Amino acid sequence: MNEEKLAAKILSQYRLNPFGTHGVSHWARVMENGLRLCLENGADQDVIRYFALFHDSCRRNEGLDFNHGLRGANLARRLRRDFIRLNDTQLELLVLACRDHTKGRTKAHITIQTCWDADRLDLGRVGKIPDPARLCTEAAKHPETIAWATERASRRIVPEWIWNAWGLKALRFNDKGLPWLDRQMVARILKRVTCGFLYRERVDMAEDKQIRDFLEMLTSMQHYNYSYRSEAIMEMKEHIMPLIPDMAHTDVIRMWLALALALKDLYHMPRSRLAAILAKGLPQPQERE
Ligand SMILES: [Fe+2]
Repeated sequence: MNEEKLAAKILSQYRLNPFGTHGVSHWARVMENGLRLCLENGADQDVIRYFALFHDSCRRNEGLDFNHGLRGANLARRLRRDFIRLNDTQLELLVLACRDHTKGRTKAHITIQTCWDADRLDLGRVGKIPDPARLCTEAAKHPETIAWATERASRRIVPEWIWNAWGLKALRFNDKGLPWLDRQMVARILKRVTCGFLYRERVDMAEDKQIRDFLEMLTSMQHYNYSYRSEAIMEMKEHIMPLIPDMAHTDVIRMWLALALALKDLYHMPRSRLAAILAKGLPQPQERE
């Protein structure tokens, strides 16, 4: 299948934030979950790949949306001729898997069961651990499979391959041309830009040009704030200080506040929202180096 064209087609009608709870990173993890399961149980991997892309593609909200499975199935039928390479039997499995994926059922064809399990194994992204009793296949019920999928889901891992395979580079940016501040981008900013201030040469030159330019701009703004906007950066203190890693040096703290101010200005966001976003990307105490 030409996944890039299909993903573009699906996303062109997707109504929600592509990086939201039911967006592309979920689709990608569902695909990886399903491909892992089918190695054990022989389910049809082509159907699983299409299921990952279609099953939440017609959601209209991130909460209860009872008919989105049926709408996703109907979209698959509509796009079949131009975008889908499945025979009639496979298509029927795909349609049923999409249509019924929210009904909580566990009995079905092994390929359909594997699709549902692949989806349910990603519940960690909303803070839930999949209940083995609600999973369908033995492959999914293994404690190590649940632990593996839940760890990835809870960190909302974005598999790196989707940027090329699904042609998503343009989607890394919002309508102001700034990168989405998802967890991964926040972590990248904290790691690269805070270091970049002190050690510019550490900025990874293999990065996309647009991301590199953004990080450069942020570094310059941080530098400017640090040098000339003492009062404004001290105003960040109340919200940002609790998030600052344990670094004793006053200059490092000021540098951190200067970075926070640069982000706040660039994205036009309130301090409390910025603090919440930055907190997502901070390493947990035990992970600190
Ligand atoms: Fe899903």
